[in-house]
Amino acid sequence: MMIHLEQVLDAAAVTRCRELLAASRWCDGRMTAGLQSARVKNNEQLGEDERHLPALRGEILRALQRHATFVAAAIPRRIYPPLFNRYGGRTNAFGNHVDNAIRNLPDGSAAIRTDVSCTVFLSRPDEYDGGELVIEDTFGSKVVKLPAGDAVLYPSGSLHRVQPVTRGARLASFFWVESRIGEDERRRLLFELDVAIVGLQPAAGSSATPQVHEAILKLTGVYHNLLRQWAQA
Ligand code: NI
Repeated sequence: MMIHLEQVLDAAAVTRCRELLAASRWCDGRMTAGLQSARVKNNEQLGEDERHLPALRGEILRALQRHATFVAAAIPRRIYPPLFNRYGGRTNAFGNHVDNAIRNLPDGSAAIRTDVSCTVFLSRPDEYDGGELVIEDTFGSKVVKLPAGDAVLYPSGSLHRVQPVTRGARLASFFWVESRIGEDERRRLLFELDVAIVGLQPAAGSSATPQVHEAILKLTGVYHNLLRQWAQA
């Protein structure tokens, strides 16, 4: 399941991130790549020792916690501390790869399973040419280039790439989520049920019949009981 998350960061948060990124030092992006992806990865990233990294990570993590669609779609158990990358000039592309299944957290405290990958766009689409995120899924390939502040969630197991940036620079944050629901299909079903229940709320106003209230209550029960069966606490 691929989901477009609108306005994860508002305009002010994008500006704060951009100012911090402008004052940061970029390093070779291959430092976090596995063997296969290092061969096709050609971009820049912030290093773990970058002094602005904690503030940047805070911006993204706080925004994610407030974003109801992110929480409903990813059902996060653990989130890898967000990373930041830049595509432009001679370091401008990332060929086809699948994200590593297991990632050690930067502080070495644990490893997480990568179920969902997320890219938060920090450059406006008119600031650069190319740079599309292309995700191959069971229905063919999806081409993603979003407004600054928007994000995309997609299964970490999907083949994906970033097209060469031929003008300007593409700044983004990216990270992985270990979901409480490891299986993509189950996570999708729960998300669709969640969206349907939320969509029924307007029908549950003061004039609603008891039958409507009872039906919504039952659907909500089904959601939580499926979550109880499938979730890793
Ligand atoms: Ni990737």
